Amino acid sequence: MKNFLSVNDAGDINFLVKTALNFKKNPLASQTLGKGKRIGLMFLNPSMRTRLSTQIAAQNLGMEAIVFNAGQDGWSLEFEEGAVMNGSTAEHVKDAAPILGKYFDILGVRTFPSLKNREEDYSEKILQQFVKYSGIPVVSLESATVHPLQSLTDIITITEHLPVKTKAKPKVVLTWAPHVKALPQCVANSFSQWINAWGQADFIIANPEGYNLDKEFTGDATITNDQAQALKDADFVYVKNWSSYKYYGKIIPAEKDWMLTKNKLAVTNNARVMHCLPVRRNVELSDEVLDSDNSIITEESGNRVWAAQAVLADILNGLL
Ligand code: CP
Repeated sequence: MKNFLSVNDAGDINFLVKTALNFKKNPLASQTLGKGKRIGLMFLNPSMRTRLSTQIAAQNLGMEAIVFNAGQDGWSLEFEEGAVMNGSTAEHVKDAAPILGKYFDILGVRTFPSLKNREEDYSEKILQQFVKYSGIPVVSLESATVHPLQSLTDIITITEHLPVKTKAKPKVVLTWAPHVKALPQCVANSFSQWINAWGQADFIIANPEGYNLDKEFTGDATITNDQAQALKDADFVYVKNWSSYKYYGKIIPAEKDWMLTKNKLAVTNNARVMHCLPVRRNVELSDEVLDSDNSIITEESGNRVWAAQAVLADILNGLL
């Protein structure tokens, strides 16, 4: 692959999953593949898991990884074409990104949506400018609309925990959860898009009215406002908050309590519970779920290394 910006760049998902699981068994299997190569990891927003797991993945492949917190460590960037830069931004992405292209062989970038201008956020205006002006392969470390490294991780984790039974496909439920802040739709969009492209799950999305995601990402998934019905016989429950797509970036009061509790899990098929983290305890998920054997959240975050390593290995192979 050239870039890794969404599922559309992933090619064969099962091949990436297999590669990732091989790296999990033998992290240093390709420790010279990235020798002499350097990856820049540029964050326009905070991160723990993505930042550390991608650094570790690069190092396992013999690459040097350099992290850069734009705006904090460097000049604040301008993204408007034709901007008269007499305000707070000090450097245009048109000038900064080509330099990054000289310093690095691969560039990872994390951006976030404004949650104010839907059209602009959904055009991936910021990420696309790094692609356009850097001239090197770009890996999304989460963007305005998707989080592909997280979603690949989620499919790896589901694959590891597939129930041993005759049922052809596991039932995977993405359920909305409450939150105190307006969050992006990107993890939920991305999870939906990847599960649909993977095609190996019965996929249901449960969310309150006013929270339907963009159909471009949910495709043919069943969407319901009835969380209890959705959870029935679920094998995997993916919990995530997102702000409204329809009333863009807004928090609309939900009629019922959507926090996932142990009681609610009783109707599932002893479901494995997932979340991308960070999680607001006793707001999104109860302590008793997070601390129970049903939770595979820590393992899921651990798998971020192997997902990043599979993607970086694929890009490095293309650079040979
Ligand atoms: N899940 C995730 O992307 O975590 P970070 O924001 O800590 O990277």
